[in-house]
Amino acid sequence: MDIKTFATTLFITGIATCGSAHANDPSGSLNVSPRETKSLVTWQFSRDSLHWQTVRIPHDWAIAGPFDKKWDIQYVAIEQNGEKEKTEKSGRSGALPWLGHGYYSTHVTLSQCKGRRVMLNFDGAMAEPTVYVNGKRAGHWAYGYTPFRLDITPYINDGDNVVTVSLSNMEESSRWYPGAGLYRPVTLEILPELHIDSWKTIITTEKNHPNYIVDYKTTIPNVPEGYRLRLDILDSKGKQIKTAEQNELKRGAMEYQFTLDEDSVHLWSPETPYLYRCVTTLLDDSGHTIDKMTTKFGIRTITIDSIHGFQLNGVSRKIKGVCLHHDLGPLGAAVNKAAIIRQVKQLKDMGADAIRTAHNMPSQIQMDVCDSLGMMVMAESFDMWIYPKCKNGYSRFFKEWSDRDITNLIEANRNHPSIIMWSIGNEIPEQWSYEGRIISEHLQNLCHQLDPTRMVTQGMDKAEAALNSGFAQVMDVPGFNYRVYKYDRNMKKLTTGFLLGSETASTVSSRGVYHFPVKWDVATPEKDGQCSSYDVEWCSWSNLPEEDFMAMEDKPYTIGQFVWTGYDYLGEPTPYDEYWPSRSSYFGIMDLAGLPKDRYYLYRSVWNNKEHTLHILPHWTWPGREGKVTPVFVYTDYPEAELFVNGKSQGRVKKQLGLKTDDQHPSTPEIAKTRAKRYRLMWDNVVYEPGELKVVAYNKNGQRAAETSVRTAGAANALKLESDRLQLTADGNDLAYITVSLIDKNGVELPQADDEIEVAVSGAGQFRAICNGDATSLESFATPRMKLFNGKLVITIQSGKDKGNIKVKVRDSKHKLSKQIVIKVK
Ligand code: GAL
Repeated sequence: MDIKTFATTLFITGIATCGSAHANDPSGSLNVSPRETKSLVTWQFSRDSLHWQTVRIPHDWAIAGPFDKKWDIQYVAIEQNGEKEKTEKSGRSGALPWLGHGYYSTHVTLSQCKGRRVMLNFDGAMAEPTVYVNGKRAGHWAYGYTPFRLDITPYINDGDNVVTVSLSNMEESSRWYPGAGLYRPVTLEILPELHIDSWKTIITTEKNHPNYIVDYKTTIPNVPEGYRLRLDILDSKGKQIKTAEQNELKRGAMEYQFTLDEDSVHLWSPETPYLYRCVTTLLDDSGHTIDKMTTKFGIRTITIDSIHGFQLNGVSRKIKGVCLHHDLGPLGAAVNKAAIIRQVKQLKDMGADAIRTAHNMPSQIQMDVCDSLGMMVMAESFDMWIYPKCKNGYSRFFKEWSDRDITNLIEANRNHPSIIMWSIGNEIPEQWSYEGRIISEHLQNLCHQLDPTRMVTQGMDKAEAALNSGFAQVMDVPGFNYRVYKYDRNMKKLTTGFLLGSETASTVSSRGVYHFPVKWDVATPEKDGQCSSYDVEWCSWSNLPEEDFMAMEDKPYTIGQFVWTGYDYLGEPTPYDEYWPSRSSYFGIMDLAGLPKDRYYLYRSVWNNKEHTLHILPHWTWPGREGKVTPVFVYTDYPEAELFVNGKSQGRVKKQLGLKTDDQHPSTPEIAKTRAKRYRLMWDNVVYEPGELKVVAYNKNGQRAAETSVRTAGAANALKLESDRLQLTADGNDLAYITVSLIDKNGVELPQADDEIEVAVSGAGQFRAICNGDATSLESFATPRMKLFNGKLVITIQSGKDKGNIKVKVRDSKHKLSKQIVIKVK
């Protein structure tokens, strides 16, 4: 298309003005902000530059579907999974229409911008964004995940301005669903010509026994003589606790160290996510405020060594992490703060304390949430370097762009206390080569230059190759993906004295699906397109959670793990890569709707050491299984329990806490099952009869401590609606997640119900999405109608900008049931 025509197409959509914000503040008081930031939210969007529609960003143009195997159908051998022959992979990147071009356009009215800098900031744009301002090409980026900034000052007018963005997504450019469009925020920043740069301002903290040092650095090029900076450190309530002024900015640079004494300091940790703020004020030679900027930071120390392992604030802990792709299930890639808060809270309840942003740069929103709720982060960058994992992947850009991508990742993110390490890659095919080692060294050095305080890792899957080429040895933190049985051998070739389980488990399961007989083994496709929720299926390269639990508990050199994955994600439907209609993963501890699978409770029983866990599986509604063996597992932190079917004891089972198994060979079904006896309580020979399945747990002193039960469900009697929140903020973005289930007259959920549910939303908000967690469902997330999957689905409701009530009415025509829930918007 004629890009000039496209770029000058006029659509009046959004307005931002420099307004009356003045550059100078004679009082120099702390209340005046001469800089202005505007979120560009409303855009016109088109796939063909002919038909346009109004959208709000973050926006993912592909998530509404329709699902179709024709989108990005890949005829490939997935080398990483050990495949030699090419076969058809239909759902590999989600089977959604994310390929091709997309165009966005918005209007911005600017006034009084002379002598100011106007920056356009993208937190990522999928993909290969080219940006035009008033028809002139203002800039371009290649990688869809990288935050980037464009100085658009030369292209702007006083008055109306048109910003247009052209995006392009190539087939076979991703191993998972990447999303499409302006899926992260775009902001316009109007800055004084001389300004403080958030990406060049670095706040780091260290311990200088017994006190803590807050080290502040910034650079402002071309500062006239006599200009100075004032720094104010504020506590979380906004009270000033330290202040400093530097009389002269030497070559525009300032470095200042504050000392905070041990007794008054509040350290940042997942358990105490305390945030300070630093206000930087640039003053001219008469004391007028030229610019002012606030940076959030946390005070914490991180060390990793062979004696103490990973330490946060001087306390050793093993990282209990999960890997997450960036999509938010039925919201697609469009980032949303409320959705991320929900994820982080659920993960924390499970006892997790870390996230790996697999395999790319995180959003600022995600990092802000991790800072404020307390979640450590391994921030990753690439899934491939020069050698492609898929035909049109990042390898097309690596040589030209990788340094710029890493630079932006780190400059944009280094003040987030949640980030504990950087990752320069995942399962990079160059692991075996000298060239790969050189690139590792180069990228790691670049990370160190930009951030001397954090260590650098990458996830390696070919341990021998990486250790023979020296690729593994150059890393600050050698990270190994899977193959726990090689850890001991890997250690012999490392000098670090520690290693990280950078990616672990890849156990597969589908919420609420139980296959009989229970088969412990590498997952193989079944007719129903699902994996058993008995948590007994892994991949040829992977294992069950117990193998990792044991490595973390028994091997002092392990510093933690990142489980693949916290949530199911769109694309990569292993072991159904060749099975249509599978289009999303089975790896999640939680499903695509964010509902916990049984595995959630297994991790919780080991990781959450504040609250007890007592969970029974499977459900107990099995018409037709009467008299058949139906094994029962209990996931609990208690060491022992007794199981009862309709009051009849099935025996008392104790965890085999000291149990060791062969850990030098890949999992076999027998070993996997034996290992499970250390963490799960299992009754293999229970015979199903309808009624009540009850478990009574005993503590380590043999005392009765807790009990729980599941019951057989009768006929459908009512719908049950449970919302995670009953009050939302009127910001147009807040979300409530309503879980729908069907219950009998006693309130027992029908665990196999598949009724179609219809949703009607009215009032102060709108329907946003629907999802049931079924990886084989082709129903759209964007239509307010869907079948329950194993008795449940989740509706996402979004607040509007006005206060009031949102009424959500849910109907089940099959059973002629309906139910309403009201959510307040304030
Ligand atoms: C890993 C890879 C992940 C995902 C996972 C599935 O090897 O790093 O991106 O593909 O396997 O088990």
